[in-house]
Amino acid sequence: MRKKLQARSGATYRRKVYAVDLFCGVGGLTNGLQRAGIDVRLGVDIDPACEFPYTANNEAKFLLKSVEDLEAEEVRSFYRKNGIKLLAGCAPCQTFSMYNQKATDSDKRWWLLRQFSRLVEELSPDLVTMENVPRLIEQNVFKEFVESLEAVGYSVNYRIVNCADYGMPQQRNRLVLLASKLGPIELLSPSDFGEKPRTVREVIGSLPPLSAGESCEKDPLHQCSALSEINLRRIKASRPGGTWRDWPNELVADCHKKKSGKSYQSVYGRMSWEKSAPTMTTQFFGFGNGRFGHPEQDRAISLREGAIIQSFPPNYAFTPPGESVCQKVIGRLIGNAVPVKLGEVIGASVLAHVSRTPKRSSKAGRRSRPQ
Ligand SMILES: C[S@@+](CC[C@H](N)C(=O)[O-])C[C@H]1O[C@@H](n2cnc3c(N)ncnc32)[C@H](O)[C@@H]1O
Repeated sequence: MRKKLQARSGATYRRKVYAVDLFCGVGGLTNGLQRAGIDVRLGVDIDPACEFPYTANNEAKFLLKSVEDLEAEEVRSFYRKNGIKLLAGCAPCQTFSMYNQKATDSDKRWWLLRQFSRLVEELSPDLVTMENVPRLIEQNVFKEFVESLEAVGYSVNYRIVNCADYGMPQQRNRLVLLASKLGPIELLSPSDFGEKPRTVREVIGSLPPLSAGESCEKDPLHQCSALSEINLRRIKASRPGGTWRDWPNELVADCHKKKSGKSYQSVYGRMSWEKSAPTMTTQFFGFGNGRFGHPEQDRAISLREGAIIQSFPPNYAFTPPGESVCQKVIGRLIGNAVPVKLGEVIGASVLAHVSRTPKRSSKAGRRSRPQ
């Protein structure tokens, strides 16, 4: 992808960009940034389950720590003196989820975005990037975050993107913010990448078949949830892209028969081979949790299939060799991740920006509104 972009813009990335990734998870964003050519030096996360996948797949150190307790000094030593400094962060998004209407300003998780802001102020990196769920844009905490960046001289640009437009096999809308002290910055557009939309078939069509509850001998991550007898009958009655409305009445859940449950169509569905997948959530490995049924096999998609739909490389390691895979934990980590390819788009955008703005600018920050 980087070569393609260099060819288009004539850019040669002379100044190296060093990054620290806050709330790094299993490394979706880090992996994408590294693929684009950014040297991610450190990832910070509070969850010990992230350490193995983060370090096994990425050339970066992992710090197990709450960002709340993170001192600027601990981060500063990971940057290089003559390099460009990028602070990347993806504060947990659960608070802003469509399904959580009760979140208030006092919710502790919003506090983490303020902690990110604190570290930006203390470290004064040249560049900042943040990814989150689109609804964050409506929250005061986001407005305050943008204002705090502009107040200390960053040009800020943010927009909501659909990952499918960038050639990812998934409908996933995300808010991406970029901020720079070097001048105006923006996310490259899908046409800069010349990517075609990808289908479920293209990315998981050649994986070995599985039965519900089975695990692949060669790749333990290619394992899927067991199904109860009724759910097995339900998936057999499901057609790709359809809903539970296609089932005979005796299979329909009582809650869906009620008036209030009729609108919940996005559960118990099969994916379509020829379309992109729905958004991978932290529960994507469960047939009843969304449209996560395999297009033709009678089972939910496997952890590996979910990871590939999230654009992780097919050999990305999530558990140490020989260790058993905890579906609930690994599924959550995969569903929470920034798709690797979105990380690559962000990284390529940062590098294209750096190559076009060789000199430091001390101009006051400017914001580009979302499109
Ligand atoms: C949306 S996920 C980040 C995904 C990650 N950027 C990736 O691409 O894989 C949010 C992460 O924040 C972590 N987290 C939650 N609270 C935290 C805290 N106080 N300090 C550090 N990490 C925290 C979670 O463990 C989770 O891995």
